[in-house]
Amino acid sequence: MNYSKEDWGARYLAKDTPWNHGDPHPEVRRLIAAGEFPFPESGNRVLVPGCGPAHDARAIAEEGYEVTGVDFSEEVTPLATATLNGCGGKFLCEDALAHDPKEPYDLVFEHTFLCAIDPSLRPRYAEMISRVLRPGGLLAIIVFPVDRPREEEGPPSTLTIDDLTELLAGSFVLRSHAAVQSGRAGREWVEEFAVFERS
Ligand SMILES: C[S@@+](CC[C@H](N)C(=O)[O-])C[C@H]1O[C@@H](n2cnc3c(N)ncnc32)[C@H](O)[C@@H]1O
Repeated sequence: MNYSKEDWGARYLAKDTPWNHGDPHPEVRRLIAAGEFPFPESGNRVLVPGCGPAHDARAIAEEGYEVTGVDFSEEVTPLATATLNGCGGKFLCEDALAHDPKEPYDLVFEHTFLCAIDPSLRPRYAEMISRVLRPGGLLAIIVFPVDRPREEEGPPSTLTIDDLTELLAGSFVLRSHAAVQSGRAGREWVEEFAVFERS
């Protein structure tokens, strides 16, 4: 199902937001603690598209990165702005698929954005990732829901590493992928962590 920005806004207004746990994804915390994320070699400029309440964006900004979180929902804007307050992170309320920064990013991190948009919009996601990342820049993504039956309507829509590899073919190579070790308790479907490098 194609959720409009009003549909997402209605979910925030109704506080019907099971994705908002009030903290970063546990795998983000685990990878940071293990010194495996973010990637110092990739550079400092980080984009978090579809950031929602911006908890992941804050965790990355607290590591000293220059983070921009983007979400098109006006209803999540006060929450995202408050989350990023004081950590140096910036929030933009706009369509992430149309995001066109003045300077390219070194790293895009995202979690539950690509799976939240309608699958018909995925080519636009690939265009956006190619446009916003510098050559050699990295897309780090928690891939979810890997094992959701494809016939079940999203969001979240089934997303696998093979789907992403196919979507990004020609402009990206898959650098690494691994099972998520610190998943969300009670989360129904499998999550994986993948890193793609822009050629
Ligand atoms: C399932 S929520 C996940 C939010 C966040 N990634 C998290 O884990 O808390 C999906 C988010 O994507 C946002 N979104 C969907 N389509 C978007 C678009 N085209 N541009 C910007 N944000 C979008 C929605 O407003 C919503 O906040």
